Amino acid sequence: MGDKPRGISRGLTSYGDAGFSLYLRKAFIKAMGYSDDALDRPIVGIANTFSGYNACHRTAPELVEAIKRGVMLQGGLPIEFPTISMHESFSFPTSMFLRNLMAMDTEEMIRAQPMDSVVMIGGCDKTVPAQLMAAASANLPAVSVVTGPMMTGSHRGDRLGACTDCRRYWGMHRAGEIDAVEIDEVGGKLAPTAGTCMVMGTASTMACMTEALGMMMPGGAAIPAVAADRLRHAEAAGARAVAMGKGGPTPQQIMTPEAFANAFRVLLAIGGSTNGLIHMTAVAGRLGIQVDLEALDRMGQETPVLVDLKPSGQHYMEDLQKAGGLVTVLRELRPLLHLDCMTVTGRTLGEEIDAAPPPWDQDVVRPFDNPLYPQGGIAVLRGNLAPDGAIVKQSAASEHLMDHTGKAVVFEDQEDLANRIDDPDLDVGPEDILVMKNAGPKGAPGMPESGYLPIPKKLATAGVKDMIRMSDARMSGTAFGSIVLHITPESAAGGPLALVQNGDQIKLDVPNRRLDLLVDDAEMERRRAAWTPPPPHEGSDRGYLKLYLDHVQQAGEGVDFDFLAKPPDGRKTPV
Ligand code: FES
Repeated sequence: MGDKPRGISRGLTSYGDAGFSLYLRKAFIKAMGYSDDALDRPIVGIANTFSGYNACHRTAPELVEAIKRGVMLQGGLPIEFPTISMHESFSFPTSMFLRNLMAMDTEEMIRAQPMDSVVMIGGCDKTVPAQLMAAASANLPAVSVVTGPMMTGSHRGDRLGACTDCRRYWGMHRAGEIDAVEIDEVGGKLAPTAGTCMVMGTASTMACMTEALGMMMPGGAAIPAVAADRLRHAEAAGARAVAMGKGGPTPQQIMTPEAFANAFRVLLAIGGSTNGLIHMTAVAGRLGIQVDLEALDRMGQETPVLVDLKPSGQHYMEDLQKAGGLVTVLRELRPLLHLDCMTVTGRTLGEEIDAAPPPWDQDVVRPFDNPLYPQGGIAVLRGNLAPDGAIVKQSAASEHLMDHTGKAVVFEDQEDLANRIDDPDLDVGPEDILVMKNAGPKGAPGMPESGYLPIPKKLATAGVKDMIRMSDARMSGTAFGSIVLHITPESAAGGPLALVQNGDQIKLDVPNRRLDLLVDDAEMERRRAAWTPPPPHEGSDRGYLKLYLDHVQQAGEGVDFDFLAKPPDGRKTPV
């Protein structure tokens, strides 16, 4: 034990008398039944995100037990504590609005309570990034454990998974191909077990990126939620956290620009969710590290999509696990990775790849020279419609639409879209471009996953499966289509998106990474002079909504709050 307070003596409550503070703390915690021997041990905090509203975290209690077992086997004292938990479908107006609140809660609880290290149980989309943001700022040794993906379901012989197949079946229902009875039947089978969405959506993407980043014990990204291996993984994390409490490494020693580069490399190679970019931008921003979008785009051009998982491919996360898990991807990417990056194990990423079991024949992770898609999933666009950038997930888009000029069909916001998209009189054709405004960080608010604009019903029933859609919103990682997202600056902040009018021509040129509104500068200036911001959101004069609107940044800063991010220190990623 060094000079710094450890275990129960850390971070004493201020009563003006340190001896009394410790005496009182011990007196109160004795009511939990701990012995003096237990209270002398290193303490591993366990951030427990169980919630009756969060089915993705249904197994959190058994993970807590497994982590505790690991801690105690190594002579530590595990103490669990609750934090905010969020499920995508139970977070009004959108979970992204609450991610920063969860990050603040987690950071402050790690800081406020005595613990030498922490194991954080995440899983559903925003929970893992919130916890990584917290760990980056608190800088206490931390290990991420995810709840793990669901197993797949089946409907009349068709394999199903949340929620790529939710969208596929809902699209069939909208097109009149299946009736109300059948869509209800499907609804009972899309999420058949505990766990996170089992396609390469945001939860799976963040799990894979976190393992590549070095903040998770090796092999943890793809183990199904209901597998016994998931509990053994949790136990190992608990055991490791005891040693980390004494000697690190700390999150700031692990999360370097090189480590983020590894995470972005994996994001591209797995055809991961576009949300992975925003979330890791926020995590890096907590450490003063900026994401260089042009470097990311270059990385994308030399990184093929290797993982054949929905929505870009055909398999599910349980298949990736059977194929060997994320290390099967890391092995293919080995020449492109920074192998000397430190991980939570105290060994480097390269050492962990070498220590993994040897590969075997499988068809989920393609070899580097026979990829699923020749370039990384995400392309970064610039142009007069997106001066600070926009993105398109090429691997989930229609190739013939990646160089296309079309007429804008504009919706002012999500409500306008909902009201008019299925209007039989809507003037829209399959070659047109659907544009939605006011769905960015400030506009919606919360930058919801509403970028997956539905195909207008009259086109869907005529057989149109895809068309170009664009907005300042995000999109669920489980979605697919020719969809431009994160247009920055956003419409509500006066970005050029706010100036698009019905009938304008828009040119999307993905090969040249351009997104342009074909309207001359004089007309743009005239429109800008006439533009007024949208009216304030109801309730925006108080509470968290006020805090959020006053401080939220744009997509390029990860949609973090300005007062939580660290001023850039000149370090950039990917490197
Ligand atoms: Fe939780 Fe998809 S809803 S991971």
